[in-house]
Amino acid sequence: MRTLTFQGTQKVSVETVPDPRIEEPTDVIVKITSTAICGSDLHLYDVMGAFINKGDVLGHEPMGIVVEVGSAITKLAVGDRVVIPFVIACGHCYMCTRGLTSQCETTQNRESGSGASLYGYTELYGDVPGGQAEYLRVQLADFNATKVGADLPDERYLFLSDILPTAWQGVKYAAVPDGGTLGVLGLGPVGQFVSRIGKHFGYRVLAIDPVAERRQMAERHGVETLDLTDDALAQLRDLTDGRGPDSIVDAVGMEAHGNPGAEFAQKAAGLLPDAIAKKVMTTAGVDRLAALHLALDAVRRGGTVSLSGVYAGVADPMPLKDMFDKGMTLRMGQCNVQNWRDEILPLVEDPSDPLGTEDLTTHAVPLEQAPEMYEIFKNKEDGCIKVVLKP
Ligand SMILES: NC(=O)c1ccc[n+]([C@@H]2O[C@H](COP(=O)([O-])OP(=O)(O)OC[C@H]3O[C@@H](n4cnc5c(N)ncnc54)[C@H](O)[C@@H]3O)[C@@H](O)[C@H]2O)c1
Ligand SMILES: [Zn+2]
Ligand SMILES: [Zn+2]
Repeated sequence: MRTLTFQGTQKVSVETVPDPRIEEPTDVIVKITSTAICGSDLHLYDVMGAFINKGDVLGHEPMGIVVEVGSAITKLAVGDRVVIPFVIACGHCYMCTRGLTSQCETTQNRESGSGASLYGYTELYGDVPGGQAEYLRVQLADFNATKVGADLPDERYLFLSDILPTAWQGVKYAAVPDGGTLGVLGLGPVGQFVSRIGKHFGYRVLAIDPVAERRQMAERHGVETLDLTDDALAQLRDLTDGRGPDSIVDAVGMEAHGNPGAEFAQKAAGLLPDAIAKKVMTTAGVDRLAALHLALDAVRRGGTVSLSGVYAGVADPMPLKDMFDKGMTLRMGQCNVQNWRDEILPLVEDPSDPLGTEDLTTHAVPLEQAPEMYEIFKNKEDGCIKVVLKP
């Protein structure tokens, strides 16, 4: 089959590899019909290369049709249309029964100190071949593969694999009071859905992003937006009676704009030989923290900051004095996709498309064009906001 493979920092290519096969009775094989590129893939592309092997298959936002089922499968059949959560979980362990599927104790990666295995997400998360491919081996499929209807287009359902539940969790963890104000940092695909979900729950949503067309997309969905200027913090306060938003979701993560020093260090780490880069990345603070620090600064006293954006530094500086003094709450984590999908599915299938799932994809292209789309998405060229690959 054809698949998108990692070849080194900022280098990916489409290659032919053997088709995946059923390895466990609980597996199914899915023929992928749509598979998206995520902001998290950009972290792999730019920064995390030391933890990925040349030739590894990336991708964790796929959907498609079941073409083969393992002997222990009871809930799925050949021909079913399914969305695949990026998190692989068992559904019955201590963590899964508490809704914490991203901490699943059956697939947890204890040797690397990481949570549940993830598709296409480095040796830290189980080295599992990803979904930017023609076929995917789906593990523990009865619990994980999410069956969906046959009539609506892929773009309605696809984002259930990751960014819709991620945004949903981000908003839930933000604990916005009824009728309160939600600040959103970053209007990439995750921030777009965070903002729309905030509106759906009846909050006032104030969102910041430096990219004009991303702000325009958010405005189409009733969101008030601000550019990322030097006085963004002052503007946020002015708009909220001087206090700051009740809650803020950081939908930016470790590659925020506004940290030139850390950007240089990250790029340098990405280009070091793997062994040395791993040492740097497992001992130093390598994240660009502009967005996180803005969130901590801007949230009102007693408010909540919720991190959807991914961070990976192990010694990042945090303003604990101010966090303590403000009496704020900080929540974060990989999304527990399987915990939220049943709540979100009716909204996705609602004929009025209340979360605007069909107004996000700017580029739907053949898998063969994936390498150029990584560059375009990363550089935010050509109005790119979300890329969907069609294998
Ligand atoms: N927690 C999870 O399970 C989970 C799941 C999916 C994605 N993520 C993470 O969510 C984050 C966003 O993903 P995405 O797909 O939307 O990526 P993206 O890179 O397209 O979006 C990031 C956005 O932030 C903006 N930005 C950059 N610096 C900023 C700053 N200082 N202030 C405000 N905005 C700034 C960029 O212009 C961009 O629009 C990434 O870190 C990704 O890894 C987490
Ligand atoms: Zn993702
Ligand atoms: Zn589990």
